[in-house]
Amino acid sequence: MAKLDNLLTPRGDTMCDYLLKIQNITKKFPGVVALDDVSLYIKKGEIFGIVGENGAGKSTLMKILYGVYKNDSGQIFLDGKELKNLTPLIAQKMGMSIIFQEFNLLSTLSISENIFVNRLSFKNRIFVNWNVLNKRAEELLESIGYTMDVKRLVSSLSVAEKQMVEIAKALSFNAKLILMDEPSATLTNKELDKLFKVIETLKKQKITIIYISHKLDEIFQICDTTAIFRDGKVVDTKKTSLFTKNEIIQKMVGRTVENEYPARTKINFDEEVLRVNNLAIKNKINDISFSLKKGEILGIVGLVGSGRTELVRAIFGADKKISGDIFINGIKRSIKSPQDAINLKIALLTEDRRGQGLFINYSIEKNISSTIIKKISKRMFINTKLETIIAKKAISDLKIKCTSEKQTMLNLSGGNQQKVVLAKWLVSEPDIFIMDEPTRGIDVGAKYEIYVLMNSLTEKGKSIIFISSEIQEVLAISDRIIVLYGGKINGEFQREEIENDKIMKHAIGQ
Ligand SMILES: Nc1ncnc2c1ncn2[C@@H]1O[C@H](COP(=O)(O)OP(=O)(O)OP(=O)(O)O)[C@@H](O)[C@H]1O
Ligand SMILES: [Mg+2]
Repeated sequence: MAKLDNLLTPRGDTMCDYLLKIQNITKKFPGVVALDDVSLYIKKGEIFGIVGENGAGKSTLMKILYGVYKNDSGQIFLDGKELKNLTPLIAQKMGMSIIFQEFNLLSTLSISENIFVNRLSFKNRIFVNWNVLNKRAEELLESIGYTMDVKRLVSSLSVAEKQMVEIAKALSFNAKLILMDEPSATLTNKELDKLFKVIETLKKQKITIIYISHKLDEIFQICDTTAIFRDGKVVDTKKTSLFTKNEIIQKMVGRTVENEYPARTKINFDEEVLRVNNLAIKNKINDISFSLKKGEILGIVGLVGSGRTELVRAIFGADKKISGDIFINGIKRSIKSPQDAINLKIALLTEDRRGQGLFINYSIEKNISSTIIKKISKRMFINTKLETIIAKKAISDLKIKCTSEKQTMLNLSGGNQQKVVLAKWLVSEPDIFIMDEPTRGIDVGAKYEIYVLMNSLTEKGKSIIFISSEIQEVLAISDRIIVLYGGKINGEFQREEIENDKIMKHAIGQ
């Protein structure tokens, strides 16, 4: 018979309180121990937070729970039943659903097709009853506060909208356990509020949620219990209210982080490097004019739908504009394609790294060199030695966690993929960086390093346009801010005028 000790968990309660028991899970990939003897005990109806640096093993654990990966050793119990030979389909049937960190939607299908993929309901044996499905999809989205035309193709959605479709899809399974791997990474404050309301509702229905995030404020706001991962191990688990923010950071990164943001060093800007005059994009942007100075960080703030991403994509030549002129260093330039922009030393770090930023099946080094192929080639041949040297340097500069520069992007953790996106643009040495959500999915410690990097880039005379849905970081890092609302500029603020409330008011159209 089991001794009483064995029936007690590290949290001191008896085993029977738990919906999910994860015991001694280990998972190795070639060259890395992603999970090292991980045990977690998760109660029914609780919101269980997991935090940890990029590459700490959070997503790997979610994928094991959902049957995407197989653990090397250890056991998992759901409702007292051991889960063996799990596949995603079995996991679904057992009452689990997941919001993957990297979206898993099929872009050529509609919203409702995506929500009900593999489960199309049949009126009779041959025809899918689209009316029923579309109605159900609409209801699901409405339950999380979204009204969308569910017949739209997923490829036409913004990142935030895709996220909402992922959530609706997860809800559609009537799951008792929902795994949320950084669901908030792409959401603005308003959307986050909606998500939290959804989570509260789910909690009332006794649905259990595992919630992963790099944003510690969120963890404190909604998680009952929090586990901290470090290098594949659980370093601490307790009631969230018993942690302090500093303690979490310290346990996550192994050192204290004094300030969240480094001080901005530069103050004077005179030379204009970019001027945008009367830019318009069909249905999106209406007569926008602004300038960017040498060494400046210009923040663009706006809610989803305000046109911020469309604006920078048009400047970069990725989207068509109806009208407007762009001047680089005082000279009017025609930018019709991203290649034109790159030739003019402009770089765009995209918010959607899977869609636009990366070649996911290629190595880290091939991704990093993709912006400088011409520079490192002679005639038809790439100087692969040089390619490797450049990649190695970038990996060490940005502390990209990987086994080698030859590792396939697909096998990197989400945050480390993001760092590669940054690296590939850094090596191309542009003069103007457009950074759309550069810290998305990046851990607390590495975020600070990215801000420091932004500072040092501007000290070298580079200029940055900075977009982020995390308003706080834009306010803290930018020298000047323009606020977009409904495709127009609705306010401009110098560094000393920057105040959260004031800027939010402008962002919502006041
Ligand atoms: N399929 C795979 N093949 C090889 N290595 C992998 C694979 N998946 C993950 N890894 C490695 O396992 C480690 C843990 O990755 P994981 O994605 O779980 O991190 P994470 O905590 O989710 O990080 P992030 O915060 O960046 O999302 C990393 O070193 C990663 O490179
Ligand atoms: Mg992850």
